[in-house]
Amino acid sequence: CGIVGYTGFQDAYDIVINGLRRLEYRGYDSAGIVLEDTNNTFEVEKTKGKVDDLVNISGQLRGKAKIGMGHTRWATHGVPSDRNSHPHLSNNNKIAIIHNGIIENYDTIKTMLSEKGFTFKSETDTEVLVNLIQYFMDLNAETDFPTAVRYALNEVYGAYAITVMHEDYPGVLVVGRLGSPLAIGIGDKEYFIASDASPFVEFTKEAIYLEEGHMATISLENGVDIRTINDNSKIEAEIQELKLSLEQIEKGGYEHFMLKEIFEQPKSVHDTMRGRLLVDEGVIKMAGIWDHIERFKNANRIIIIACGTSWHAGLIGEYLIEEYARIPVEVEYASEFRYRNPIITDKDVVIAISQSGETADTMAALKLAKEKGAFIYGICNVVDSSIARITDAGSYTHAGPEIGVASTKAFTAQLTILTLIAFKLGKHNGNLGNAEFMSLIAELDAIPKKIEDVLATTHDLVQNIAKDFVHATNFLYLGRGYNYPAALEGALKLKEISYIHAEGYPAAEMKHGPIALIDENMPIVIIAPKKGHYDKIVSNVQEIKARKGKVIAVVNNGDTQVREMADYVIEIPETAECFSPIVASVPLQLLAYYIAVYRGANVDQPRNLAKSVTVE
Ligand code: G6P
Repeated sequence: CGIVGYTGFQDAYDIVINGLRRLEYRGYDSAGIVLEDTNNTFEVEKTKGKVDDLVNISGQLRGKAKIGMGHTRWATHGVPSDRNSHPHLSNNNKIAIIHNGIIENYDTIKTMLSEKGFTFKSETDTEVLVNLIQYFMDLNAETDFPTAVRYALNEVYGAYAITVMHEDYPGVLVVGRLGSPLAIGIGDKEYFIASDASPFVEFTKEAIYLEEGHMATISLENGVDIRTINDNSKIEAEIQELKLSLEQIEKGGYEHFMLKEIFEQPKSVHDTMRGRLLVDEGVIKMAGIWDHIERFKNANRIIIIACGTSWHAGLIGEYLIEEYARIPVEVEYASEFRYRNPIITDKDVVIAISQSGETADTMAALKLAKEKGAFIYGICNVVDSSIARITDAGSYTHAGPEIGVASTKAFTAQLTILTLIAFKLGKHNGNLGNAEFMSLIAELDAIPKKIEDVLATTHDLVQNIAKDFVHATNFLYLGRGYNYPAALEGALKLKEISYIHAEGYPAAEMKHGPIALIDENMPIVIIAPKKGHYDKIVSNVQEIKARKGKVIAVVNNGDTQVREMADYVIEIPETAECFSPIVASVPLQLLAYYIAVYRGANVDQPRNLAKSVTVE
């Protein structure tokens, strides 16, 4: 979910609505706004649907207030509906709340409040929290609004970022965080609240990222007062300079963020390597690794934990690190790892991969590994994100903000970082000889240019191919070796945005199951570069053609053997096998993108998904 708040001198309506549009990628099944007008009365509008739907019903609020807040939701408790949308009001209608996260013990509190006569209009845990705040204020007339919020937060457990307003406290916003991100923008006589800095970047470059377990009372008179939720200790605010620019978070002429981000990849992969890959000197510089090289050197194994696309990057990381550094690697879904009582020791290195740095399952798995003494390394894209902050060390991917819900440039940036890590460790521990190292890094340095070529040469072609598959109902994606996870990722992209069922498989495993699905209607995307079990893949293509499947093959320039058999051919430049997933993923992203566009799907905001899943 996304949260926006404002108190200052500008029109709160415009700021909140524009902010919600920027945060809509975080959740978009309902949206709502509350403003406190100049008569100190709340005005609330909320609806199932998108920010546009909210705008349609709330135009009358424009110009009415200088303080307000809004929410864009990804449903957890209760179906998306007008009633379950945020903000929620307390029974006395004096307190309004917006909330991102889950209150796990809401049921017990709801029962307690119901016994005291409170009633509930929605099925949400959030409405329970706002009434708990009222309860504490009712209980004792001395308890002021921020104190009541603090009391209430001490009663709940779960994950949250909240913003609360009270009708009798004009100009005041109270915020709190545990597990979900919250940034406070500091302007000149104005303050902004948001789940990330994008809603206020054009107004101020100064922000405070609220820490876990902290709350803040923000008012025009007294500024930002930060306290610990558990014992009300005062905390000195740490103001940070934002590096984000407006341009980075706008579409810049592209029809969708996803397409813009696909096309940004020559630059984003280059940015990931910038300052790290020094080809002329024959060095990879990574302070995070180097400062802790002993931990890596003495590691019994590396465990990579992640979710979704980041998990696919992790699988390729396993191939890379095992091949070049010869350190055993295991790759785990964070959600499985955390609940299966895994064996972790202080000899383990745990690498968490997360674009957002906020994924709840990944965060929880990391905390578990940390408790058990493992060394924790983060590969995050969002700077200062929660995961980045709890790790012992890490490397940012520096791909720039990724807004399309389907991950593209973050994935190729993750692969780039994992490649650098594998080479660096391998070079250091002697498993990767100097000559091979030098030739590999020279080749890695050429990857951004190869991505650029792929974009130039395959863009039109892939669009045409996509037209032929608009009505497909199933897809298989196959690859071997490094390109097996690339096949999984290709299938995930298609599934996420076009809603066509797609499955990725190791090409050779096809004969143990999916081959039964193949007939003349089954499209099969097969990644078949020259380096990487080419002959075996040729046999797999033969097996498919013998069953009349429709083959879309990703091959190297000048390929002849697969070309003869395939129905469609997408050519990419040749590269070392370990880099081929980076290059091969690009046309697969385009294919998923155009199939979705031709099906009329909302590419940047696919149904039911959210960009960062801050609940488990
Ligand atoms: C969500 C997103 C995916 C992403 C996954 C993991 O499901 O829709 O695109 O791969 O979360 O996110 P993370 O931010 O941890 O990489």
